[in-house]
Amino acid sequence: MPTRPSYYITTPIYYVNDVPHIGHAYTTLACDVLARFKRLDGFDVMFLTGTDEHGQKVEKSAVAAGVDPLSFCDKVSTRFSELAVAMNFSHDQFIRTTEERHKKAAQHLWERIKSKGYIYEDKYAGWYSVRDEAFYAEKELIVGEDGEKSAPTGAAVEWVEEASYFFKLSAFADQLLDLYKSQPDFVMPLTRLNEVKSFVEGGLLDLSISRTTFDWGVKVPDNEDHVMYVWIDALTNYLTALGYPDETTDTYQNFWPANIHMVGKDILRFHAVYWPAFLMAADLPLPKRVFAHGWWTNEGQKISKSLGNVIDPFELIDTYSLDATRFFMLREVPFGNDGDFSRASFVNRCNADLANGFGNFAQRSLSMVHKNCDGVVPVSGPLTDDDTKFLSGIENALDGVRGHMDCQAFHKALDAIWTHVSAADSYISVAEPWKLKKTDPDRMATVLYVCTEAIRMLAILMQPIMPDSAEKMLDQMGVSERGFDQLSAKHRLKAGHQIPKPQGIFPRFEHEDTK
Ligand code: MSP
Repeated sequence: MPTRPSYYITTPIYYVNDVPHIGHAYTTLACDVLARFKRLDGFDVMFLTGTDEHGQKVEKSAVAAGVDPLSFCDKVSTRFSELAVAMNFSHDQFIRTTEERHKKAAQHLWERIKSKGYIYEDKYAGWYSVRDEAFYAEKELIVGEDGEKSAPTGAAVEWVEEASYFFKLSAFADQLLDLYKSQPDFVMPLTRLNEVKSFVEGGLLDLSISRTTFDWGVKVPDNEDHVMYVWIDALTNYLTALGYPDETTDTYQNFWPANIHMVGKDILRFHAVYWPAFLMAADLPLPKRVFAHGWWTNEGQKISKSLGNVIDPFELIDTYSLDATRFFMLREVPFGNDGDFSRASFVNRCNADLANGFGNFAQRSLSMVHKNCDGVVPVSGPLTDDDTKFLSGIENALDGVRGHMDCQAFHKALDAIWTHVSAADSYISVAEPWKLKKTDPDRMATVLYVCTEAIRMLAILMQPIMPDSAEKMLDQMGVSERGFDQLSAKHRLKAGHQIPKPQGIFPRFEHEDTK
């Protein structure tokens, strides 16, 4: 049995109809930060991401590109794994729904739901949106001035009539409402829970779960004319990765049910209504939480290929560095809300918090250590009350940060850490170590020791969000133990470690129009 508590976190799997953009990077980044945080906090983490490769949308894109669907998927899926490397994501698995293990899992789950009596054969006649890969009821559609109907998301819809298997979703309304009531943090944030509740209260229709007019999908067991609806196939990936249908493995036993499925607000219904209903039907445990984050716009406009305003995460990393990109995305916008991307706010935020904030404090302190203390971490004299208060503030920040991380309030977690960056700035400005070299070298050594120790603790806390920069900083200080258990007076930085000439970690950016 594992001695550490386990934590299973998943990203949505990304459609390979298109190359990755900032929206995809954002969802996985949030999961990466949480996964790294949990590992440093002593958890045994399983972090899953991957690509969603079946369905009509992907098939159409392959046809448009003039290649067979699998070659098309191979190519685009690679682009997503390259993004994961470029963003320094620390996932444990990258799953693809075209893998054999996944087909086996999806077919098994289907058979299991069918054996419980929740799947039946009929004919579907209704609206379908290929872009959303979603069925819509007549009452959900928007009718434009020209009488043209579209999905509530604005996507085009088409009338579909075909033989189909159905899932008895309507049988689960009460159980779903009970779930939202007894476990109100099943869907977060709260506004999203309310949306989901009213959708279910509005009445649930049975769900068409197979298609017959194309064949790019997992075959329905015992009926080769049907492929599974892409969402029942895709959602099963969360089980496949743990070895399902074998429920006896340690991996499955440790990690299912998932602690959190992170999703964007557009795909909440699939995760908070359909997925728990499928699991209830199959008599499998339910995930503990579905968190729906908001969407990015670009300088006030919806991001779309046709508007030509897609934000390329690879370009951001090249222009501004990886860690600045990671930091900005989670610091700027309250997680859960929509956010607007602008280069001006990127530059302002990173200059204020990174270059002028933490970077400046670290550079100033370590340069003084290098110049005035023979380049080694100085021996500290007795600490004053102010010294102790400053250090214990950082030491105790973990509890608050943990609380914010546990409700996916990344912006608040960062805010809590940056309160101590500001405190560090005030500490050094008041203590003025640069004035003490001649008058009181022992006190100067103590102040610089306190500053260096503060950098160590702040860098430990910042690892989940900016792993490379924190690592460089901790390397410079010769700190090898980096878990959150090191944030305690017991583990204070040792005097005597040789500090190399400090390298600035966070560059200052110029605004584009002043370059
Ligand atoms: N394949 C499905 C998910 C299946 S999960 C079992 C899918 N894929 S997607 O590639 O279209 O979207 C993946 C994620 O990217 C979603 O969580 C979506 O919200 C997110 N984003 C896409 N554009 C976005 C923004 N402009 N801003 C923030 N996130 C957005 O849906």
